[in-house]
Amino acid sequence: MEKAIKHESQNVTDYPNNNTLFAVWKFKGDIDVKPAFEKLCALVPNLNHSFIIRAPGTRATCVMGVGYEAWNRLSLPSPLPRELKNFEPVAGAKHTAVATPGDLLFHLRGAELAVCFDMLIAITDILEQVADCVEEIHGFRYWDGRSILGFVDGTENPVGDERRFYAVVGDEDPVYKGGSYVFVQKYLHDMRGWTKLPAEEQEKVIGRYKISDIEMPDEVKPANSHSALAGIEDENGAELKVVRDNMPFGNPSKGEVGTYFIAYSSTFSTTHKMLQRMFVGDPPGNYDRILDFSKAYTGSLFFVPSLDILKQYSAVTAR
Ligand code: HEM
Repeated sequence: MEKAIKHESQNVTDYPNNNTLFAVWKFKGDIDVKPAFEKLCALVPNLNHSFIIRAPGTRATCVMGVGYEAWNRLSLPSPLPRELKNFEPVAGAKHTAVATPGDLLFHLRGAELAVCFDMLIAITDILEQVADCVEEIHGFRYWDGRSILGFVDGTENPVGDERRFYAVVGDEDPVYKGGSYVFVQKYLHDMRGWTKLPAEEQEKVIGRYKISDIEMPDEVKPANSHSALAGIEDENGAELKVVRDNMPFGNPSKGEVGTYFIAYSSTFSTTHKMLQRMFVGDPPGNYDRILDFSKAYTGSLFFVPSLDILKQYSAVTAR
């Protein structure tokens, strides 16, 4: 008897943790990458299950996303997830959300850095012959969950059942039910410029009060604040959300301090609408002031297949 498809998701709705490694890989040219991918399809669930037993308190999770070109090169199911395409730059008059290449994304979370580290070592063992890691970011929890700009990051994120509602594909795309679109960007901040702003000015940039993390009332919140432009609604006034888990990272002595932005969504158009409002502005020209202090250096879209799809492709090999 055939087993029913469960449409179980990878760990996309997990809550932020203390440490996160983000790794984006690009396949090398003219090489058969399928065997490595099949090993990864087996490794990802294995890592998630293993750390539940080995380190229950660490809440370790490993999520793998696949980019548009990789999806085609690996001959994964066709037609593709409806909104899986190469991310195209979103250009405003002053700031641009750039698009950069990426075939596979790994989002590795854990209370202990050691766990994230070991997960990336296991992934690297499989990938290093067939792919180059084009981005490896070591993110960390900063104080009480603040972005490196000093404001709590994630407060307006969905919680409970809403996380699945906003992050996971449902019946609208039945073949890919249980999957998720994940979009990542590496931002570096102009910390000199930012720290010169008095706290009251910084609050106007974000649209929230810094110490209390309370949202400014609409009549006080500037129209070019991050909260005013990234907070969006549909045509009926219902909030449109994504599930974010940004992490600070950096090398302060080298003047490189940033935010790695990551958002899971059931439909990429929601994330795209946010980007459009932030970079182009609403109305055009009224762009997000956070961008005067934050420059996007990368930007890639991936699809996170459900566990059923990983299972379909997985090949366990003796090691
Ligand atoms: C420089 C990178 C970024 C930083 C440091 C940052 C930081 C923050 C902070 C501190 C908040 C307020 C607390 C919260 O609700 O989380 C926030 C809210 C939010 N951010 Fe960002 N963010 C960044 C980029 C982005 C991007 C690229 C998007 C979307 C594509 C985005 C979407 C949102 C949304 C939807 C909210 C909630 C708005 C609301 O409903 O009030 N953020 N962000």
